[in-house]
Amino acid sequence: MKTIIEPFRIKSVEPIRMTTREEREQCIKDAYYNLFTLKSEDVLIDLLTDSGTSSMSARQWGAIMEGDESYAGSPSFYRFKEAVDKLMPFKYLIPTHQGRAAESILFTVVAKDTHWIPNNTHFDTTRANVESQGATAVDLVIAEGRDPELIHPFKGNMDIAALERFIGEHGVENIPLCMLTITNNSGGGQPVSMENIRQTREVCDRHGIPLFIDACRFAENAWFIKLREPGYENTPVVDIVQEMFSYADGCTMSAKKDGLANIGGWLAMNNEDWAVECRNRLILTEGFSTYGGLSGRDLAAIAVGLEEVVEEDYLRYRIASTDYVARHISEAGVPIMQPAGGHAVYIDARRLLPHIPPLHYPGQSLAVELYKQGGIRGCEIGTAMFGLRPDGKEEPAHMDLVRLAIPRRMYTQAHMDYVVEVVTEVYERRDEIRGMKFIRQPPALRRFTGRFGYIDA
Ligand SMILES: Cc1ncc(COP(=O)(O)O)c(C=O)c1O
Repeated sequence: MKTIIEPFRIKSVEPIRMTTREEREQCIKDAYYNLFTLKSEDVLIDLLTDSGTSSMSARQWGAIMEGDESYAGSPSFYRFKEAVDKLMPFKYLIPTHQGRAAESILFTVVAKDTHWIPNNTHFDTTRANVESQGATAVDLVIAEGRDPELIHPFKGNMDIAALERFIGEHGVENIPLCMLTITNNSGGGQPVSMENIRQTREVCDRHGIPLFIDACRFAENAWFIKLREPGYENTPVVDIVQEMFSYADGCTMSAKKDGLANIGGWLAMNNEDWAVECRNRLILTEGFSTYGGLSGRDLAAIAVGLEEVVEEDYLRYRIASTDYVARHISEAGVPIMQPAGGHAVYIDARRLLPHIPPLHYPGQSLAVELYKQGGIRGCEIGTAMFGLRPDGKEEPAHMDLVRLAIPRRMYTQAHMDYVVEVVTEVYERRDEIRGMKFIRQPPALRRFTGRFGYIDA
């Protein structure tokens, strides 16, 4: 059959509150044009993030009822540990309440101000956690990954030659670990090939540098390997996942993505000394080492989510639905990051709005317009997110994108058809869209709480 259907039936529904354009114009003005500040009830289709927004399955809700809330040694922790170990068997597993808590603990323990951390592309919380230790985060994605129009099967790949040069320049003693983000969220949700993971590992091995994977979307990455990397077409996804992690010394994870859960994360590693220090830090900041800031029921839901996320019918539908939106808006002429990412479609706002310079945040302007037009909430991934340097200077990000992140198992194809219609309408009126400025901003992660206004207001 050509039609790939949602491989689930809907048992429980939540209403969407319909709004008019006038109402939305007022809501976004009241929110200082920051989509994070909107009330979610004022949003029709919420594509702000795929993080923590998954619909849970009946099996997950069942597991929640069975969650055991013992402070220490809960069976829910062991159920969680078994599910993680099946996919990514590191020696030490440290649950955390979400991904950034894992990053914070890791970098507090391993990084200091003379250090440099390479990654294909740091996600903003990863970068902020590196920088909060005074260390420097550097992105070394392949050149193809910085060109939104170029079609390449693995645009998330690490530039291996650049990594070699980077190690030569900064010295092994100043690089406590190397990271690889799969899929590469800030670079368009693009996957990393198995060959590239292997090559990154070889470089790290040659210099004795540990390799950590930012594993948030590991299952989507594995599916792309199955679809696109010669030699893996008949390999079960679970085997691909196990091979990916066999090349790493540890990982950080947000279970809010490919854990199919609404909260949770973990840090895992093989280095015992680091693990001991990380656990001590965990107890100080998150909680005891068998719950790490989560309830037992959360751990149980993640355990089931990890079984479901590697089901091939699910992954086939998941990647096909992202591709569906990308294909239709691209056919309407809207410039998007090609090819479609795993969890999101990234509109190239810099190309769509060439009259708005990067320092006037074309991505933010476009995201605001999508909300006004159809109540769609996307997320700027560009200069508003990445443009502010630690020294307070501002420069254009590599790209100005608007990410439409698709929550897992939440929306139907009719919702996606509506998204295509709204994006196309905004595209047709693109010349009317104006640039923006910050009217108030915090020193770090400014996109969350900053306030915007129109440039000529
Ligand atoms: C690649 C990547 N790393 C880390 C994180 C941080 O995870 P969390 O939001 O659970 O703190 C995210 C969240 O979006 C992400 O996409």
